[in-house]
Amino acid sequence: MSAAAATVSPSAAENPLTEGLERLPVPATTLVIFGATGDLARRKLLPALYNLAHDGALPERFHLVGVSRREKPHEDYRAECMEAIRQFSRRTPDEDVLESLLEQVRYVPGVFDDDEVYASLAEVLEDFERQAGQPLARIFYLSTAPAFFPVIVEALGREGLAHRDGGGAEGPPAGAGEQDERQVAVIIEKPFGTSLAEASELNQRVLSVFEESQVFRIDHYLGKETVQNMMAFRFANGMFEPLWNRNYIDSVQITAAEDIGIGGRAGYYDRAGALRDLIQNHMLQLLCHVAMEPPASFTADEVRNEKVKVLHAIHAPSADEVARMAVRAQYGPGRAGGSEVSGYLEEEGVREDSNTETFAALRLEVDNWRWAGVPFYLRAGKRLARKVTEIAVTLKPVPHLAFSQEGSLGIRPNQLVLTVQPNEGVSLQLGAKIPGTRMSIRPVNMEFLYGTSFLSQSPEAYERLILDAMRGDATLFTRNDEVEAQWQICDPIVSAWEAEPGPLPQYEAGSQGPRQARELMAEGHAWRSI
Ligand code: BG6
Repeated sequence: MSAAAATVSPSAAENPLTEGLERLPVPATTLVIFGATGDLARRKLLPALYNLAHDGALPERFHLVGVSRREKPHEDYRAECMEAIRQFSRRTPDEDVLESLLEQVRYVPGVFDDDEVYASLAEVLEDFERQAGQPLARIFYLSTAPAFFPVIVEALGREGLAHRDGGGAEGPPAGAGEQDERQVAVIIEKPFGTSLAEASELNQRVLSVFEESQVFRIDHYLGKETVQNMMAFRFANGMFEPLWNRNYIDSVQITAAEDIGIGGRAGYYDRAGALRDLIQNHMLQLLCHVAMEPPASFTADEVRNEKVKVLHAIHAPSADEVARMAVRAQYGPGRAGGSEVSGYLEEEGVREDSNTETFAALRLEVDNWRWAGVPFYLRAGKRLARKVTEIAVTLKPVPHLAFSQEGSLGIRPNQLVLTVQPNEGVSLQLGAKIPGTRMSIRPVNMEFLYGTSFLSQSPEAYERLILDAMRGDATLFTRNDEVEAQWQICDPIVSAWEAEPGPLPQYEAGSQGPRQARELMAEGHAWRSI
């Protein structure tokens, strides 16, 4: 983007990403997207870049390079980027901002294991640096099939593209001036391995080229406003912390329900399943946000140290324990969005005898002083009644109830619900007296809704995450030991499930999920309605 784009921005002053935040500088950057024509790039990354440009959050000098298989001229790639942004951006694009963002976009065709690609890429990067008269930060975004992650990283290392010194392999660009170090980082999409062994191997290969501080493993849930708000909620308010432990909290329930099926993703999903797709990453992260100790400061390592401690405190089940603490199922035919939909086994691309779960539920325990004995119930599934991601924290019932239950509409323990999406907000369920001459009580909600308290639209997760990676702030990214600790919890479940023959229990598409999920619940506990 030329300098003009930064000044075109209509709303830099209202930018929700930078407003009130410590402004870490964003250096002049070239962002290289591998897998540039893929779905993620079109639906999320390009629109996120546009919205950052719109908010004036990109550096004055920002360049975009797409790398993908098919041959095409830069102009065609540019037109595709424009179309993707027009189709998927949360805001209707301002044509001047769009033009300016994509003015100098470059496209490098080729297969990722061909060294020629990296030689062409080096030329493009050096050309931008020559124009700038200084080294530019380089961010390599790996938005490809996971098999290419180590291939690309190793090629970047071999070709000298991961070098921090201003000259890379070729010596400093003309006019490099006094600035002779550049930031170089790699952003790696999920899935980060499909098991502990794979994740460790991938970590080793990535860390043979980059230092951990240069590696940004994406879990897009960490970029969601409401997930970050969990930190604000817990650590900026004095009233919750005294209650936030086994003495007052009875159980925690985390739900990530989706109404969609697997769409055109059978190739990936049928090998992954709900546990690997959503629980190993997003849901364990949500759990960490509920269970972690207050970090000493909001810096990448302090925050991630606390999350890793939680993950290490989670009891990974033995093979015999899996049946008691984990349930899986597959959606059968049913209704979604007002029409008939087919079951998982009839989806295109799914093996007809597939044992892949589209629903998984777990009961986990965090074995430490704060949480011993408090069940954490997690469930994630496709083709459920509606899309909702929420964390419900149920408090213990009062020790003695002085009121008669007669005439009351159910006196329930207090429940705090943090809704991640949709209708982002926090709601606290309390018992209140029903107006009238009798002492009757019913549950009422005290609500905070993002939409009504803050009038600005929340940025998309990818906006925040791309900007943080450019700033070199890894707080909202998964560290190497963190991702391995997540697999350590899930591996035994995957192995036990793989060893068991199918077919899996089915649940009706559009329903609340399989009845077997109820069996995980301790006495007196129940899943919330989706
Ligand atoms: C992705 C999963 O990581 O998260 C998808 O691969 C899932 O299967 C998606 O649909 C859910 O993300 P969100 O932001 O829509 O809740």
